Amino acid sequence: MSTNKLDISLTHELKALKQEGRVKAPERIIEKYILPKDKFGPRYKLVGNDNEFIRLNSNSYLSLSNHSKLADAADTATCEFGVGPGAVRFIDGTFIHHDRLEKRIAAFVDKPAAKIFNSAYTSNCGLALSISNNKTHWIGDQLNHNSIIRAMRISNIPSINKGIFNHNDMTDLKRCLDQVSPDIERVIVIFDGIFSMRGDYAPINEINKICKAYDSKFKDGVITVVDDSHGIGAYGNTGRGTSDFCNASPDIIIGTFGKAFGVNGGFIAASNTIVESVRQKADTYIYTNPLSVADCAAAVTAIDICDSDEGLKLLKNLKERTAQFRQGLEKLGKESIPGPHPVVPLMIRDTKKTHDLVKFLFDQGVLVVGLTFPVVPKGDETIRFQINACHTFADIEYVIELLNNFK
Ligand SMILES: Cc1ncc(COP(=O)(O)O)c(C=O)c1O
Repeated sequence: MSTNKLDISLTHELKALKQEGRVKAPERIIEKYILPKDKFGPRYKLVGNDNEFIRLNSNSYLSLSNHSKLADAADTATCEFGVGPGAVRFIDGTFIHHDRLEKRIAAFVDKPAAKIFNSAYTSNCGLALSISNNKTHWIGDQLNHNSIIRAMRISNIPSINKGIFNHNDMTDLKRCLDQVSPDIERVIVIFDGIFSMRGDYAPINEINKICKAYDSKFKDGVITVVDDSHGIGAYGNTGRGTSDFCNASPDIIIGTFGKAFGVNGGFIAASNTIVESVRQKADTYIYTNPLSVADCAAAVTAIDICDSDEGLKLLKNLKERTAQFRQGLEKLGKESIPGPHPVVPLMIRDTKKTHDLVKFLFDQGVLVVGLTFPVVPKGDETIRFQINACHTFADIEYVIELLNNFK
């Protein structure tokens, strides 16, 4: 047997992706983390490049990934229990660190219970597998993350039982709710907390209010679900995410430990019964090994830091550096999408200019993400900057100065 014939077909498919402009660039490899020095934050070395880079494309908003307490917690847990769990959760793969993390994240987001997953991606899929039946109707924001779109697909409901509302458009959400068939018993309204390409947020207070008005129409009600992967840890007065910012909590909260908390893994937090249904029914929980104890112990430490004076200081610096960067863009007359989140999009609105600026910044030691068609619609070409708590005043000034110099 050989894969020659398949290889030939796949080569054609890859060529087609390239022609559609959808092929991904080769991955850069980070070979060294350089500690902050003088007035500058950390830098990174890439394989095959002599520059030292500042990262403005990292989701580690609180810069906890390199925190010594997280590394120590991971080391201690590994020394105690080993590197891998040896089996899935149901076959004695549940360790004290898994249980601790579930209790800690549930308390942090103020829900009765939580289940942890290997990622937020598999959390979304797991939720869909657990709470959907043939009388369920799903409604989602038009700009929801790929993992939510995938979750809605694997919920195995006919397309008639799905609605998409225009981004953050509450009138359109009502239209979707009005269109739900009277035979439906359960409606799930699901949305990103922070929209990762734009840095804007879902108005959870308004969404909750609208959904509540429709709740009595359906046997099991209208359930609101936020995936706040970019909000939790990084947004709101106490870093509890978009719920904190909007002062309103949806019924179910999904999130990641892989962004502001600087580790890895995802979670679903909700009522005890929903979480038990997830445990019983979510294939992406049941049939796969869990996170390592190292990840869990590091994530608990990250939440503890986030909940302490140190965390509030990190959040304060994150907010100040974000404001500094946004004000710098404004002074230069650059277009962005307003808001306090550390995802700061610079609207370029031209593919070539986007590529040229990304390359210019790269040559000057700055890592950012350029978003062009088909990732964003034509005319919405953007460079996404992500501010982290480790960035210093001098770092942000440096980047603003570069943007000023780019002609
Ligand atoms: C809304 C949303 N959900 C899920 C994810 C994926 O998170 P994870 O890496 O934990 O799967 C992302 C990140 O890209 C995201 O923006």
